[in-house]
Amino acid sequence: MKRVSILGSTGTIGVRALAMIDLHRDSFEVVALAARENIDLLEQQIRRFSPRVVAVGTSKAATALKERVKDVPVEIGWGDEGVLGVATASEADIVLTAIVGAAGLLPSLAAIKAGKDIALATKEVMVMAGELVISEAKARGIRLLPVDSEHSAIFQCLGGNNSGAYLKRVLLTSSGGPFRRRPKESFAAITPQEALQHPTWVMGKKITIDSATLMNKGLEVIEASWFFSLTPQQIDVIIHPQSIIHSMVEFMDGAILAQMGVTDMGLPILYALSYPDRLQTPLPPLDLNALSALTFEPVDHERFPCLGFAYQALQAGGTYPAVLNAANEVAVDLFLSDRITFPDIAALIAKAMDNHRGRKIDSIEVALDADREARELVLAALHT
Ligand SMILES: NC(=O)c1ccc[n+]([C@@H]2O[C@H](COP(=O)([O-])OP(=O)(O)OC[C@H]3O[C@@H](n4cnc5c(N)ncnc54)[C@H](OP(=O)(O)O)[C@@H]3O)[C@@H](O)[C@H]2O)c1
Repeated sequence: MKRVSILGSTGTIGVRALAMIDLHRDSFEVVALAARENIDLLEQQIRRFSPRVVAVGTSKAATALKERVKDVPVEIGWGDEGVLGVATASEADIVLTAIVGAAGLLPSLAAIKAGKDIALATKEVMVMAGELVISEAKARGIRLLPVDSEHSAIFQCLGGNNSGAYLKRVLLTSSGGPFRRRPKESFAAITPQEALQHPTWVMGKKITIDSATLMNKGLEVIEASWFFSLTPQQIDVIIHPQSIIHSMVEFMDGAILAQMGVTDMGLPILYALSYPDRLQTPLPPLDLNALSALTFEPVDHERFPCLGFAYQALQAGGTYPAVLNAANEVAVDLFLSDRITFPDIAALIAKAMDNHRGRKIDSIEVALDADREARELVLAALHT
């Protein structure tokens, strides 16, 4: 029996994780949950899974939730302290980190320092402070397990062996997003509603916009470099519109292994939680006869510059990936609230990167400072 804490239990990943756990009550027990404000769903989750501790973003949400579940024995906290309590809940063996964005960094690090295994969905954590995360995980001897389908695919192809002694390179697959065929001249007219229509995956808003700009793939390139100790030159991205091959690994002798499956995060989430075991999922089998073709094409970097920015940030190292991430988070928010155009997202990120003077990340404060500076710079650029 594994005891699980979930950070971001009301999001797309959190909900799918709980659905998987529900199917395997003999293998998992939910001990703690955190979200920001969706107390309707949290109430249902508390009644279904009986966690000992739950946290929300504000005291107002906590008061409202307490009132709703006053007949249930559950401890309810709020704010940073509340989320940290969920991340470090004493009973938990493994923490699923699925809070979107930079807000996931401190609780994820706290969970690692508390000796918990981590099923990592929040890729922004690795992008902001991959070196610190990896060194803390090594120092504590905990397992850091990928949830992102691409990284789970690589992990599975490597047979759980992160060192990859015979590894030549990895190939991250990308659906290409909703604008794979759209002419660049019309990008300025893209609406948030159009960008939120992902062709193959159902996901939260931020990652869906990241998928439309291909920044999601860029964040995954940086995440892969930390997870699997790879140089930027060992990570390639290829467009694969069907999203059946979740990623591939090429070994030094030329052999390529791919992991395939239906497009459902249930599988990589459950694999991270059950590792090293595998458990059954209710997913439909992949019907290869029904697939007319698996196709591949190169990335068009001219139309999708964000991927290139991520490679540059990875190459530059230090605080650059944290700046890339923060500028992107702010720009995506601005786009979602109709304050900038789709191409402005890339333009603002480029501006933040150009204006940054990199520093080595030797403490979490350095990463958080770089994050703050980039956010301020993007907002200031908006008013000039
Ligand atoms: N969705 C996917 O298929 C997928 C695949 C791979 C990786 N990921 C990664 O997984 C992470 C989550 O993605 P998602 O699609 O599940 O996002 P989402 O649907 O937007 O859910 C985000 C979750 O985080 C919670 N949250 C946000 N800010 C918080 C804060 N300050 N404190 C506590 N909780 C907070 C939200 O709570 P409320 O609901 O109360 O706002 C919600 O539970 C992202 O980093 C994403 O890149 C997602």
